[in-house]
Amino acid sequence: MNILILNGPNLNMLGKREPGIYGSESFEQIMEELRAAFPSHSLHYFQSNHEGAIIDRLQQCLTDGTQGLVANMGAFTHYSYAILDALRLLSIPKVEVHLSHIFAREAFRHTSVISPACDGMISGLGKYGYQAAIAWLLQVQQKSTEH
Ligand code: DQA
Repeated sequence: MNILILNGPNLNMLGKREPGIYGSESFEQIMEELRAAFPSHSLHYFQSNHEGAIIDRLQQCLTDGTQGLVANMGAFTHYSYAILDALRLLSIPKVEVHLSHIFAREAFRHTSVISPACDGMISGLGKYGYQAAIAWLLQVQQKSTEH
């Protein structure tokens, strides 16, 4: 399966950024683990600190063969209606992931404006959230080929 893992602002700082909340590993290390866990699938990774670049990458999914999306939109989660609209363009399965437990943090993090455009959300499981999201995407694809 062709899966895009899309990370938003400040997630390029993982390992350096508030390690007590986000862990001490870089996302490159996490990607290595994900590729090792799902060796027969194509896991593509894109990170940007820029809303427009994220929207461009989402629009590309319409034509580049992406079959599933795992999206951690960082702080854009809480206010970007433009990313919500871009997610709504895509009919592939989409999972929203947050490393931290956003509902146990500051009030502004309790709202996700992008959730309505995703099939589900995983929050608070750290890097394992990405693994769980990919495992779910794979079983959705498997089910769709059974019929
Ligand atoms: C985050 C949670 C957001 O509130 C925050 O702005 C992030 C990371 C997470 O993965 O826990 O940048 O999406």
